[in-house]
Amino acid sequence: MIEFTLNAEPRRVDVEPDMPLLWVIRDELDLTGTKFGCGIGQCGACTVHLDGVPVRGCLTPVSAAAGRSVTTIEGLRGDHVLQRTFSELSVPQCGYCQSGQIMSAAALLARNPAPDDNAIDAAMSGNICRCGTYVRIRAAIQRAAEELRGEKPA
Ligand code: FES
Ligand code: FES
Repeated sequence: MIEFTLNAEPRRVDVEPDMPLLWVIRDELDLTGTKFGCGIGQCGACTVHLDGVPVRGCLTPVSAAAGRSVTTIEGLRGDHVLQRTFSELSVPQCGYCQSGQIMSAAALLARNPAPDDNAIDAAMSGNICRCGTYVRIRAAIQRAAEELRGEKPA
């Protein structure tokens, strides 16, 4: 039995310790906002936070989450500033990569409230978008950062 906190709720799962966290989140706990893309750590679609740090759910064994805090896109409750700015700037195209993108961006803004374009590109480099929305992603992150700094009305 492995216990951890998922989106601020205590959870307990009876699975093999080497089962990828992504599998546990989607198949055992029925939270499907986190996506399976490549399965080999190359695309970022499976990005979640482990104690606030973005990790690849497809490469992270659930045992690594024991006693720790996991946050998925559902944990942002639909009202994170990034979810709004991504929508305002029509970032999602097919949408498949977007939960991973937002989770990486949320971790960036939590540690750096004023990222320049280089910092954004570095933080987001592991998140691939086959629809090529990179310019809009950067703009949505900048807009969210400005709002968090109080530079624009929310
Ligand atoms: S599915 Fe995990 S990085 Fe692609
Ligand atoms: S919006 Fe389609 S993969 Fe990114």
